[in-house]
Amino acid sequence: MLKTKLWAFALVLGSPFAYAADCSFDLKGTDAMTYTDAAGKPVAEIVVPASCTDFTINLEHTGKMPKAGMGHNVVIAKSSDVKAISAAGVKAGVKGDYLPAGDKRVVAASKMVGGGEKTSAKVSVAAIKAGGYDFFCSFPGHEVKMHGKLTVK
Ligand code: CO
Repeated sequence: MLKTKLWAFALVLGSPFAYAADCSFDLKGTDAMTYTDAAGKPVAEIVVPASCTDFTINLEHTGKMPKAGMGHNVVIAKSSDVKAISAAGVKAGVKGDYLPAGDKRVVAASKMVGGGEKTSAKVSVAAIKAGGYDFFCSFPGHEVKMHGKLTVK
């Protein structure tokens, strides 16, 4: 009886810690203009556990090309805003890291990095819980290939 109670207690205590490790995702950006996971597979969707308060996407540019030619960032926004933010990003230019400054449609964004560099974007899970949010790269032309769904489950 005592053993069962202790086991149940450990299970309850243990679950938040198990989820904590999942409040981030390691995303790779490549010289082939793609987002992949650590195993090199394409990433079309990132699942965010609803139990997380914040969620962080860690982006590593695993290529060798410089930021000016093959820059990558990770921007979080509503799916319906992605094309417009991308277009505004082109206007922001290289000096603006191809992202409009102070744009309210941008929920979260990392800086733009080149080959060998790392960055991250942290988002409040409450802000994306309603669904319909995506992650993408705002470097000119990259959104077409570097674009996926951010789903809270
Ligand atoms: Co890119």
